[in-house]
Amino acid sequence: MTVKLFAPVLLCTLMFLLPTSPATLPLVINTWPFINASAVAWQVLQSGGSVLDAVEQGCTRCEAEQCDGSVGYGGSPDEKGETTLDAMIMNGDTLEVGAVADLRRIKNAIGVARAVMERTDHTLLVGESASLFAENMGFTAEDLTTNKSMNIFSQWLSNNCQPNYRKNVFPDPSKFCGPYKPTAVVNEKRRAQSTDILSHDTIGMIAIDQHGHVAAGTSTNGMTHKVPGRVGDSPIPGSGAYADSTVGAAAATGDGDIMMRFLPSYLAVELMRNGADPSSACKTAISRIKKHHKEFFGAIICANTTGHYGAACNKFSKISKFHFMVSNSESNTPLMKSVDCI
Ligand SMILES: *[C@@H]1O[C@H](CO)[C@@H](O)[C@H](O)[C@H]1NC(C)=O
Ligand SMILES: *[C@@H]1O[C@H](CO)[C@@H](O)[C@H](O)[C@H]1NC(C)=O
Ligand SMILES: *[C@@H]1O[C@H](CO)[C@@H](O)[C@H](O)[C@H]1NC(C)=O
Repeated sequence: MTVKLFAPVLLCTLMFLLPTSPATLPLVINTWPFINASAVAWQVLQSGGSVLDAVEQGCTRCEAEQCDGSVGYGGSPDEKGETTLDAMIMNGDTLEVGAVADLRRIKNAIGVARAVMERTDHTLLVGESASLFAENMGFTAEDLTTNKSMNIFSQWLSNNCQPNYRKNVFPDPSKFCGPYKPTAVVNEKRRAQSTDILSHDTIGMIAIDQHGHVAAGTSTNGMTHKVPGRVGDSPIPGSGAYADSTVGAAAATGDGDIMMRFLPSYLAVELMRNGADPSSACKTAISRIKKHHKEFFGAIICANTTGHYGAACNKFSKISKFHFMVSNSESNTPLMKSVDCI
């Protein structure tokens, strides 16, 4: 009897004495030093909004601010000069997901993703039809092209359409803008190290409230000069992000063409489910990809339901650190954190 009563007290005392990393809820964590997105999401939680509201509004802020030119309108023009958007949001309580890919003419991609989740039985809508759905739901259709994205596009044209992300085609794609004819398939190293890092940033965000409700989401305008129709990892559940309120969440950024083959966010959440701490779950998810692609750019953030978090990235080209934002009640304001790449 005495032992039974004593044990919890002893356990509690031990927990205070053990040097665990500090963790508090609620928590907002997002990829890259997108400080205003973090601040908006934090504010939403502080004023009683849900974790879905926090993720949606945080990412919406990035879309409106055109974070790094890689989120929202007027960035990353494709081969035809058009900006198209990918986004997703996931409810960790219900495991519902809403996503849009190759969304055109609508600025608020994550808003449309949430509408897909909450106003349809579907999970992912794409292209023109996604835009029609959005207009139908009251989102404004407008041109996503800006002078800046037009300039990026014309520079690409005057640079012989390079890079163009094609392989095994003829004539030599380094001299022509197509049309391309297929050649025999050669096993070559696919991507040059010079691939523009900034051409595939994404905001990935996780929000967890004090009751342990978890949500995650992403928003991006994809890869600059992409082949029209190309969709990256961001709107793919388990790749761009994953959330499960019994475990935590993860969100990824980087070379989506490669990353989506490995479902790193799903992997990280499953590792945490099996007891891994957020940092090592993130590291393992990156290592899994690295095993097959030594040269890729990618990073991931992970958080569990006690508010512990971590991140990992792959060392690539000149990148040896990854920066991300954390807001919790310790700081009550967004703080930039960084992690050394593996
Ligand atoms: C963040 O928000 C502040 C205040 O609204 C604004 O002045 C600043 O330009 C924003 N930062 C970025 C990167 O847009
Ligand atoms: C965009 O370019 C047009 C002409 O090419 C110019 O009239 C307009 O002022 C520019 N807009 C901005 C915001 O720079
Ligand atoms: C979250 O991770 C921390 C750090 O490893 C760990 O101490 C804690 O128990 C984890 N929380 C849950 C709910 O698994």
